[in-house]
Amino acid sequence: MDALPPTPLRKPAAPSSFPESPLSRALRQPMMLGLFLPIQAGGWTSSKTPRTTTWTFDYNAALTQQAEALGFDIVFGLAQFLPKGGYDEVRDGQALDSFMTVAALAGITTRILLVSTVHVLYGPWHPLYFAKFGATMDHIAKGRWGVNVVTGHRTVEHEMFGGAQIEHDRRYRLADEFLDVVKHLWAADENFSYQSETWGLKDAFVTPKPAYGRPIIVNATGSEAGMGFAAAHSDLVFISSPTGTAFETAIDALPAHVAKVKAAARAAGREVRVIINPMVILGETDGAANDYAESIIAGSVAGDGVFGGFKSDAHAWAKRKDYDTARQRALGGGNLQIIGGPEDVADSIARLHEAGVDGVQLSFFDFSLDLALFGDRVLPLLKARGLRL
Ligand SMILES: Cc1cc2nc3c(=O)[nH]c(=O)nc-3n(C[C@H](O)[C@H](O)[C@H](O)COP(=O)(O)O)c2cc1C
Repeated sequence: MDALPPTPLRKPAAPSSFPESPLSRALRQPMMLGLFLPIQAGGWTSSKTPRTTTWTFDYNAALTQQAEALGFDIVFGLAQFLPKGGYDEVRDGQALDSFMTVAALAGITTRILLVSTVHVLYGPWHPLYFAKFGATMDHIAKGRWGVNVVTGHRTVEHEMFGGAQIEHDRRYRLADEFLDVVKHLWAADENFSYQSETWGLKDAFVTPKPAYGRPIIVNATGSEAGMGFAAAHSDLVFISSPTGTAFETAIDALPAHVAKVKAAARAAGREVRVIINPMVILGETDGAANDYAESIIAGSVAGDGVFGGFKSDAHAWAKRKDYDTARQRALGGGNLQIIGGPEDVADSIARLHEAGVDGVQLSFFDFSLDLALFGDRVLPLLKARGLRL
């Protein structure tokens, strides 16, 4: 086995260090606005109450254009691999691949950041392929592409790829090595050889280089190891509520949680921005929002927990058992919930901002209709409060 290179691996400049990069533009917003694309059946909500939401490409393409027209900064697609039947009757496992979907979205948008999720340890991906695909996506999307690096918290997924689940913190060590190699390939102006237990490259080179140093790097975590990974690599960190779905409880715990994520990055000499993923049930008034929530709950289906009974070791959702009821799964089990009229939703987003959160990655029940109402009624309030430029 060849030795590791004698010099440290190179790191490309972060896209935030280029004032004209799409990431820098998004970061100028006091509160970034992102949309969770429902490229998987049911989105986050296991309810049969009628709605327009579907996992289809056409629906998600139109939704992305709608979000861009409203001035949203980010759309994001998750990645999952589930056996036949999925989680339950509604979240039945049908899901588009996030990476390919986002590639297609690049061609029909011009401004919005496009983040796809990649399980870098499945297969496993080779760093050279990933660096090439990433540089290509970066050029297609003109610096708007980001990758949410995940390591696989569901045991069944590793098994689907023919292996056993790798231990939680070891997954992050492997992902860290993977990203170090990928980043070197994005930065290096010479051929690169490398050999470890997991990956080998001989005289490897990637060109073109990404437009703004490297693509945007994101990870989603609630664990110490995941925060360490974020500190080393990420521009944006997705968090979920550290306490559960209830807003009033979460808002007390969030300042310390967010500060911890940011402090880990500062200790490594870097800055990260933190984005939380609330489920928003919006009505014209608080009463209408509560009625809407009840109508969603009325359509709830039987099921076995947020993750359909599949084993997960994600720290980010360690508290999810608190809301593993059909009622909570119908409303977006696992995620912070904001249920209210326009003023209440704007207030909640303002309070998240005060808690140190830099952006929200929103999910809805009936995505296109609810997003339209959000644009009409909540966006002007956010602008009036100085949360949106
Ligand atoms: C907003 C958000 C989005 C996520 N998206 C995905 C995803 O697309 N695919 C996936 O396998 N896991 C996803 N995760 C789960 C993380 O990968 C999971 O939290 C992971 O196991 C990290 O675990 P940790 O919290 O123990 O660090 C997401 C988590 C959050 C908070």
